[in-house]
Amino acid sequence: MAPMITTHTSASPAALPRIAVLATGGTIAGSAADAAQTSGYQAGVVGVDRLLAAVPALSQVARIEAEQVASIDSKDLDVALWTTLGGRIAELAAREDIDGIVVTHGTDTLEETAYALHLTVKTDKPVVLTAAMRPSSALSADGPLNLLGAVTVAGSRAARGQGVLVAFNNRIHCARDVAKTSTYAVDAFHSPEIGALGWVQDGRVEFQRAALRPHTSATPFVVGASWPAVEVVASYAGASRTAVDALVAAGVRGIVVAGTGNGSIHATIQAALGEARAGGVAVVRASRVGSGHVMRNGAAPDDALGFVSAGTLNPYKARVLLMLALAAGESAPAALQQIFDTY
Ligand code: SIN
Repeated sequence: MAPMITTHTSASPAALPRIAVLATGGTIAGSAADAAQTSGYQAGVVGVDRLLAAVPALSQVARIEAEQVASIDSKDLDVALWTTLGGRIAELAAREDIDGIVVTHGTDTLEETAYALHLTVKTDKPVVLTAAMRPSSALSADGPLNLLGAVTVAGSRAARGQGVLVAFNNRIHCARDVAKTSTYAVDAFHSPEIGALGWVQDGRVEFQRAALRPHTSATPFVVGASWPAVEVVASYAGASRTAVDALVAAGVRGIVVAGTGNGSIHATIQAALGEARAGGVAVVRASRVGSGHVMRNGAAPDDALGFVSAGTLNPYKARVLLMLALAAGESAPAALQQIFDTY
């Protein structure tokens, strides 16, 4: 496949793409008392109008309409926001005059929101998430350039049909693959093992490859009014079964285990998870390692215990897919494994 490239020239304003910006908070909308402060600030306090006003160059790449959907620190994100965001994106994407949608978000749970939208929004129009590592008040704040990049990608023909994207620090990532990989660096997002899809710089959007797994309109998943209860537990030296037993007693529908290595699980937790599965709770093995894949039957007897391997999905993205699969009525291990092998 040849690279897909869009270069924005200084078109007349009427010829520029129309982009909707949905703001949800995060550090990109954060503010600190001191410009040298890059931690301990308050996230999600600056309104979308001020974010846009800080980037005069946006008027060269798009006609923008903006909405404040939420004003939160994304660590506090409730999955109900995915229902709200998904619904609003559907309404905007259905409008003929809207060419693309940008969502500004906190970095902490951005990869979860991006993947939830990637699996559920039903549009070919670009939906691009972006964020920042430094608050808007900081010296060398990264939000303005990230916002410009995201709007540029959302307005590009090359981004159509690529699923939900994350534009961050000049790179364009697939929502399925991207993860936050640093607690402080400006270059905080990567797609481990797989790499970015392309990049955006100075008005030029270039895709070097495309995501192969089905997404957006090609999935059966929809954002529902409620999300099945699925929790994540971790495996580590000296782990006990307390957390798994408590979750089962609380009535969860699924458990994702952030295993060691190739999704291996402490024998004590594995026994508890085996009992949970026998009682009807879906169990997915992912890895806490941060890159690589989890092989089916590679480090635990999935066939014997009825577990599902998460492949290349990290535990938090595996949780998103498991919630959607359960909401779609799937719960048998074979059907769930098929879903994890497909999406
Ligand atoms: C957040 O996730 O809302 C705060 C942290 C950040 O955006 O970097």
